[in-house]
Amino acid sequence: MDVMESVRKRKSIRAYKNTPVDDKTLNTVLEAARLAPSWANTQTWRFIIIKDSDIKAKLIETSLRAGNRGFEALREAPITIAACAEMNRAGCRDGQPVTDKAGYWFMFDVALAMQNLVLVAESLGLGTVYLGGFDAQKAGEILGVPAGYCIVAITPLGYPDEQPEAKPRKELSEIIFHDRFGSK
Ligand SMILES: Cc1cc2nc3c(=O)[nH]c(=O)nc-3n(C[C@H](O)[C@H](O)[C@H](O)COP(=O)(O)O)c2cc1C
Repeated sequence: MDVMESVRKRKSIRAYKNTPVDDKTLNTVLEAARLAPSWANTQTWRFIIIKDSDIKAKLIETSLRAGNRGFEALREAPITIAACAEMNRAGCRDGQPVTDKAGYWFMFDVALAMQNLVLVAESLGLGTVYLGGFDAQKAGEILGVPAGYCIVAITPLGYPDEQPEAKPRKELSEIIFHDRFGSK
């Protein structure tokens, strides 16, 4: 499957079969994350692979919205991946931000790694859904994330048990400008 096909086919999956994901397949998906670019090649991401159902149940409780289907899916999917980052390194020198984005470039780096992961997962027939609506402090305590790191996003990983319709996107004509912002 070429990259554009994965991009087109990927959708957030919130219902999963309990079919296991073998280690080779999991490693391929993680390798895609590992190869992502990052600020000055800092690679501050860390990925926690969670299979323990008690830990998954505790993570679901960190959801900021009760009944969030994306979080409920953690129960069904065989694997949950929590993407963490070391803070104050990406976009920083000597721990101080060097751009007007403060120290938040770690969010960008983790997103790049996650998107690699998600697209390769799609190419292997696996489903994912980015989960951001959770209490990262509480989730960090559950997963033993040390000071200086935070959990940026979580995704279930498993074989889809639904085929959702594609969500609408803005047309290119709405989001592309020429030479100056707003100029069509
Ligand atoms: C940063 C981010 C955070 C998200 N957080 C959640 C979430 O907490 N719960 C959820 O069910 N979906 C979450 N989503 C999934 C979006 O709702 C979904 O990507 C969007 O509606 C587009 O649908 P699609 O992924 O099927 O194309 C999140 C997506 C992103 C990119």
